[in-house]
Amino acid sequence: AVQPPPAPVLMGFNAIATNRLDTITVPDGYTARSFLPMGTPLTGNYPAYREGGTNTGAEMEQQVGAHHDGMHFFPLDARTTGNNSAEGLLVFNHEYCEPATLHQNGPTGLPRPADEVRKEVAAHGVTVAHVKKDASGQFQLVQGSPLNRRITGATPMDISGPARGHAKMVTKYSTDGTRTRGTLNNCGNGYTPWGTYLTAEENWAGYFANTDAAQPREHKRYGVATKTSRYGWETADSGADQYQRFNASTIATDADRDYRNEPNTFGWIVEIDPFNPDSVPQKRTALGRFGHEGVVFAPVVEGKPVVFYSGDDSTFEYIYKYVSKAPYYKATAGGHLLNDGTLYVAKFNADGSGEWLALDYNSETFRAKALAANVEFSSQADVLINTRLAADVAGATKMDRPEWGAVHPQSGEVYFTLTNNTARTAAQIDAANPRAANATGHIIRWRERSATAAFDWDIFMLAGDVGTATPGTDLKLTADNHLASPDGLAFDKNGLLWIQTDMSGSQQGTGPYGNNQMVVADAKTRKLKRFLVGPIDCEVTGISWTPDMKTMFVNIQHPGDRSTVTKLTSTWPANDSTSRPRSATVIVTKNDGGVIGS
Ligand code: FEO
Ligand code: CA
Ligand code: CA
Ligand code: CA
Repeated sequence: AVQPPPAPVLMGFNAIATNRLDTITVPDGYTARSFLPMGTPLTGNYPAYREGGTNTGAEMEQQVGAHHDGMHFFPLDARTTGNNSAEGLLVFNHEYCEPATLHQNGPTGLPRPADEVRKEVAAHGVTVAHVKKDASGQFQLVQGSPLNRRITGATPMDISGPARGHAKMVTKYSTDGTRTRGTLNNCGNGYTPWGTYLTAEENWAGYFANTDAAQPREHKRYGVATKTSRYGWETADSGADQYQRFNASTIATDADRDYRNEPNTFGWIVEIDPFNPDSVPQKRTALGRFGHEGVVFAPVVEGKPVVFYSGDDSTFEYIYKYVSKAPYYKATAGGHLLNDGTLYVAKFNADGSGEWLALDYNSETFRAKALAANVEFSSQADVLINTRLAADVAGATKMDRPEWGAVHPQSGEVYFTLTNNTARTAAQIDAANPRAANATGHIIRWRERSATAAFDWDIFMLAGDVGTATPGTDLKLTADNHLASPDGLAFDKNGLLWIQTDMSGSQQGTGPYGNNQMVVADAKTRKLKRFLVGPIDCEVTGISWTPDMKTMFVNIQHPGDRSTVTKLTSTWPANDSTSRPRSATVIVTKNDGGVIGS
């Protein structure tokens, strides 16, 4: 059952101003400190972080990874009462890495030295950190805990759900199409009602290259690179199969180097059991294959299906909903609920109504649409591997880059950030994406209608400069809350909506918004106040709380991301003028020990 809010929502703090400082700014009465920066020793023999990019690939595999993103705090008693605010597992994503400052002298050109590639692969993935308050009440990493774990771009994983064993999943590594190695570009996250972590594979396509004259649809529709991949891992000068697999081109004369299906094993939601360090992460294919930004569940009801929402963050892509076939029962709930269900895609009508269109191979309607579009699918697995194409066929609404979703803990109302889409022309405007050249983004929301695949929606907020108004509401942004490119989004258990921004470098550098930031909203009144501003050139992303709401964890990604080894544009979190910038978590507390946001 949904817990009632433990304290009234007050937002009693004074909004902070924008700034371009190389620090974390929070309101008066609050304190922020950095925690678990990239390179923190985490597992094995706990190799120390060395300034200057001199750690090896093998060391990185035992350290906290790079580019912290989506995050969840699991109280140590998450599977029972879930009340422990002093000890738990802090689990967070490592979206990508910055070779310019990861290596001693920046990246070596092509072909890439194998140990640089090993280090970059290890900088990706997920960290599971066992954390506990010390005698002074400060969270610290529990050294030597068997629960500390690194999952990387090389960790063995299972393919589960309908695409498991499909011919398009067969690789040299897994000749029966049931396994793969690693998770990549883990942006937003989610968690489940049964206490597991979900990580979303977003811009994975660029990690692979396919130089064939014509790419298959399961590569082309996702943007697999046509020349060299993002980091050139496929060119590694040794390491053979582990790195050559990032070349997904046809190499017909050498069957030993056939990695054409490797990219098909990416683009999924991955479930991780953080309480079992030996557990094999599961790629849950029933939730579809796209540029998953994150994933969020609707409040669970005993005896009803579980529902998850996920956005595909690319221009003109879609918002999806997964509904399990089996009902949820607290006593038996688990990952099986993510293996069999129906995937829907959203259509937003101009009159404020919406429809969920089933991407279901067994649906007459869907198959008729596919036939009319001259698109062939051979099975539900084929539909899921080609989820974007299936959504095109279904006639879903093309959105302005869907990022995170958040579900109100009491009402079940769903909010989604649409970060920006400068490519939308005036002719392409629709009611749900109402601005051409949308540089600043908006937040859409809907309420499900009961017992039908339909919903009612409106726009919660148009983001932008001071004075930006949201039509049909009283909301007009002020100096206390103007913002652009909303991305991270979460409700806390009190029902406050936390909005994090991911403005591009130029928008941060020259726009009216200062550095990336976090604003908190009362969703009922649309009162908004700026709560946090990040350091230079960072993104503010990832958020979680202890159950007592007295500690908030926020991630700071890629501070100073225009730095080179000879010119640092930020030295956060060291702030000492010589240290390279590092992504890190930030712990926010209220000085009087009170509830965050009160
Ligand atoms: Fe990785 Fe969609 O932000
Ligand atoms: Ca994001
Ligand atoms: Ca983003
Ligand atoms: Ca990012």
